[in-house]
Amino acid sequence: MTEVFEPLWSLSGQDDPYPIYERLRAGGPIVGAGVEWVTTDYAVCNAILRDRRFGVRAAGDPGPSSEDTSGNSFDLGFLEREPPDHTRLRRLAAPAFRPKMMTGYAERIAEFTRDLITGIERRAVTEPDRPFDLIADFAAPLPIGVITTLMGIPDADVDRLSRHGTVVGSALSGIDGPAEAAALAAANAELRELFSELIPLRKAHPGDDVISYLVAASPDGITPYELLTTARLLLIAGFETTVNLIGNGIGALLDHPAQWELLGAEPERAAAAVEEVLRYAPPVQNTSRIAHEPVTVAGVDLPADSWVMLILAAGNRDPGVFDDPAVFDITRPRQAENLAFSSGIHYCLGAPLARLEAQVAFAELATRLPKLRRPVPTGLPEDTPSWRSSRVIRGYAKFPLLAS
Ligand code: HEM
Repeated sequence: MTEVFEPLWSLSGQDDPYPIYERLRAGGPIVGAGVEWVTTDYAVCNAILRDRRFGVRAAGDPGPSSEDTSGNSFDLGFLEREPPDHTRLRRLAAPAFRPKMMTGYAERIAEFTRDLITGIERRAVTEPDRPFDLIADFAAPLPIGVITTLMGIPDADVDRLSRHGTVVGSALSGIDGPAEAAALAAANAELRELFSELIPLRKAHPGDDVISYLVAASPDGITPYELLTTARLLLIAGFETTVNLIGNGIGALLDHPAQWELLGAEPERAAAAVEEVLRYAPPVQNTSRIAHEPVTVAGVDLPADSWVMLILAAGNRDPGVFDDPAVFDITRPRQAENLAFSSGIHYCLGAPLARLEAQVAFAELATRLPKLRRPVPTGLPEDTPSWRSSRVIRGYAKFPLLAS
């Protein structure tokens, strides 16, 4: 592997990756050698994501076998597919994310959010000095509740699903060792079981949920294997990212108390706050693309089969696009769409839902828990935050806070 990547591979979740990104940026808009490249540049990231000469897998690579229904492969459905399969499958899932559907979800999101905050308030009354965990007590249950509603998953399965979704989601940045591989295989098998119970149920009793839309398209529009991988993609994408948007956002807001107060006083600023968090501390730090033919990018000739790592988080702090990019400012004027949800044909399908969840969460937390704060550090595990160990997803594993 080219040496420019070394600092990136050594990144563990707890480190601040931004100094490394800035060192890479100083090398130029795209750096690397041979068939391995990395870019921190907004325009280059955006151009590659929109360029059909690049794909999510190597040219001619058919991907996992569509005959494999074991569920043991680590296949992220249409996220890892090229057109025309990508186009067909994305179209089948898209109705669940239309604006009309968002209106329906908004009520459910507000209800979930209010209930979770009520639970936190109650505990704060009985144990005012004991921190709660923003991740376990709020940021994780909210998107899990929302995505299970969207997928029509019965309440009884929610626990099972959240445990296994986390294992599969953690493997997004690669599988570290046999223990993780075994956990992944077990989680995959259980998720397959869950969906193989749910799919016939929705076939018999269709509802207004995404599994029912997908089932309606089978057998001609979608194979059983595609149905499974699409369902798994939506599940993982639906909560492994949103949980970190909420965690990273509350972290950034509490580290800038004037902005936390401003949001509490003017909760209508929540949409702008969400955009700024997506820019400043995006949950998905990077993605990659492979050149299907020789391509010249920012004056650099990349041979066919070049693999390019696109650091979306660094593009979001490109000084040529955003003024004072390292400054967190929820009142900043909009200069460009940030890259947190990617760009081009794989632009996040769930972006409207993720935005809505985070807007409601930030506005409700800032207005109902204005005293929310980090506990004075004592070094004890119960008041020390920790970061997830992933090179792709950046977010808190645990985030202790005091509510009153
Ligand atoms: C803050 C939350 C989220 C972030 C930061 C995020 C980020 C992303 C990114 C960066 C990609 C594209 C990756 C690439 O181009 O290689 C993506 C794709 C995707 N996301 Fe999200 N996502 C979030 C929430 C969600 C939610 C809530 C859902 C669904 C319930 C979802 C569903 C998807 C799907 C289905 C794709 C694949 C799109 C395609 O390949 O056409 N995401 N997301």
